[in-house]
Amino acid sequence: MTTPQLTSRLPSVGTTIFTVMSALATKTGAVNLGQGFPDFDCDPALPAMVAEAMRQGLNQYPPMAGVPALRQAVAAKIEALYGCHYDADTEITVTAGATQAILTAILCCVHPGDEVIVLEPCYDSYAPNIELAGGRVVRVPLTPGRFRPDFARIAAALSPKTRAIIVNTPHNPTGTVWTRAEWQALADLLAPTQVLLIADEVYEHMVYDGQAHVSASSLPALAERAFVVSSFGKTFHVTGWKVGTVAAPAPLTAEFRKVHQFNVFTVNTPVQHALARYLADPAPYRDLPAFYQAKRDLFRAGLAATRLRLLPCEGTYFQTVDYSAVSDLDEGPFCQWLTTEVGVAAIPISAFYDGGFEQRLARLCFAKRDETLHSALQRLARL
Ligand SMILES: Cc1ncc(COP(=O)(O)O)c(C=O)c1O
Repeated sequence: MTTPQLTSRLPSVGTTIFTVMSALATKTGAVNLGQGFPDFDCDPALPAMVAEAMRQGLNQYPPMAGVPALRQAVAAKIEALYGCHYDADTEITVTAGATQAILTAILCCVHPGDEVIVLEPCYDSYAPNIELAGGRVVRVPLTPGRFRPDFARIAAALSPKTRAIIVNTPHNPTGTVWTRAEWQALADLLAPTQVLLIADEVYEHMVYDGQAHVSASSLPALAERAFVVSSFGKTFHVTGWKVGTVAAPAPLTAEFRKVHQFNVFTVNTPVQHALARYLADPAPYRDLPAFYQAKRDLFRAGLAATRLRLLPCEGTYFQTVDYSAVSDLDEGPFCQWLTTEVGVAAIPISAFYDGGFEQRLARLCFAKRDETLHSALQRLARL
């Protein structure tokens, strides 16, 4: 028997750098600050609520768009935080994490030949998602060094074929956070167009130094054209649960759900009930900035004693460092060297650019127990 040959839909996709670096960290016993997930557990109340939902028999298919109580809780949260009203029945959908939400948003609106603008460096799923829809990825760099949006370049990238732009704030990997003025500049640019916005806001509750996250939903001119994507994985330290939400105006949500229902159909029932209950108390997400800011400050204070140069970290749980005073290596080899020789796994920023772009920058994740951060800092003190 011979297996039929496939023509790959994604010929240039291989194993992700996150898998490669995590495997290398495990093999070498390095402290893994590569992949972005906490090494501590979530609030025990949360799994207890899941167990209770399971015991109550909430174990069958929920409504396709998500458990109503969760959609209502999410709509109320968005309204309280960002001042935008979404109808829980027609404008909020529960997804299997943000990754699925973004793919579904792209599949429901991008047709073959359409262009989608991404701002590099960017999360690695965007480009393959656009290609799966038959779209063309149009890459616009964020300003080198500062990683702010360059509106002249975004304007130049817009064409009659542009169907959507993807914006991620707070930004993985660079930790920048869009200001209201930046969102407004985008709104002005898009106003005369039919371009949709996919706003990836999975780190919305990790913004520091008294700044607030500005959601695309808080600007009516953007909310009317946006799929706003959130993820409980980041906010509640449960990245493995893969539950997120999409908020979008009813006509966009209707198209979104057409794809969603024949792709994922529904998302884990007891987890949705538990999240709905857990959201009744705003303290866990209100307290998150202080929790992560303490880790960021501990980590940055330790790194300041090394020859790594710290870039600003306004949000997310990632710290970008410039290692040019330490090594001449390109980013990939540097991160391999750091993992095998120094014992700390990091991610090259070039992995977030198509074809790589060498700036001697690496990303370190500080969503770790303080003892893990101390152990990494002890090793990095050699640098
Ligand atoms: C910018 C960004 N978007 C989306 C995701 C995916 O979120 P989820 O685990 O909910 O699919 C991540 C996870 O690392 C991310 O960093």
